[in-house]
Amino acid sequence: MSTLDSGHVQVAVDAGVMTITLARPDKKNALSNAMYGVLADSLERAEADPAIRVVVFQGDGDSFSSGNDLKDFTAQATGAFEGERHVMRFLKNLAKATRPLVAAVHGQAVGVGTTMLLHCDLVFTSPDARLTVPFVNLALAPEAASSLLLPARIGHARAYAMFALGEAVDGTTAVAWGIANAVVPLEDLRARARAAADQLAKRPLGALTVTKRLMRDAEAISALMDKEGELFAQRLQTAEAREAFMAFAERRAPDFSKVG
Ligand code: COA
Repeated sequence: MSTLDSGHVQVAVDAGVMTITLARPDKKNALSNAMYGVLADSLERAEADPAIRVVVFQGDGDSFSSGNDLKDFTAQATGAFEGERHVMRFLKNLAKATRPLVAAVHGQAVGVGTTMLLHCDLVFTSPDARLTVPFVNLALAPEAASSLLLPARIGHARAYAMFALGEAVDGTTAVAWGIANAVVPLEDLRARARAAADQLAKRPLGALTVTKRLMRDAEAISALMDKEGELFAQRLQTAEAREAFMAFAERRAPDFSKVG
């Protein structure tokens, strides 16, 4: 077994399975730029190493992920963010991944915590899972090709309510709507995801690879990510978004009546 602990993301490889654990529980596994960097690097490593046949995502603490670190968004909105950004590299690597991706999801799965699941091949949820994509509440726009993948998966009406009203989907509903494969008691969640990954690791990798390629138009997904990314970057610069981020930091409800 090889293990890499990069601060808030732990990466372990064992018997053909790379397990990526989001490990920033005090912030509900909010994803910082550095964490995106490790996630992007890990997916590249998985694609390049024939000994890695499956990737599993899971989260430490009471949640899968509270999504993008809102402090990073604020820094981008105010121009204070410096250095290379890794989020798009991670998303593109999800889009073009040929290795099967498995996720074990419990607690909060906000924003990218949910949209990344649309790139996973097997998803297991615990009953307490709470999937949300509150981009409009944050004055932002859908990302990670979710503007296509989410309505394709669950229908426009449900997807719109999730995007525009921030409606939450629990673990059982996620299965009923086709976002996840099975709802599993929390205490069994990781083991179930691991067992599925172990099964996949025994399958012929070449056949898994072409099956996944045929099932997903990676180029179209990637092109949509670029289009969404442009709009997302524009939205980050708006007065609406600044109000949303300030409201979160000040633990109050946003007031969009005076901005727009
Ligand atoms: N970015 C940065 N910090 C975050 C965060 C995020 N996305 N989500 C949670 N945190 C931090 C909180 O600021 C808090 O930090 P503190 O203890 O230093 O004050 C800590 O994580 C715990 O969060 P808290 O809000 O107290 O937990 P909760 O159980 O009441 O609510 C959430 C959990 C996830 C519903 C709530 O934190 C939330 O809405 N977070 C923002 C999610 C979001 O909008 N993500 C971006 C999507 S694009």
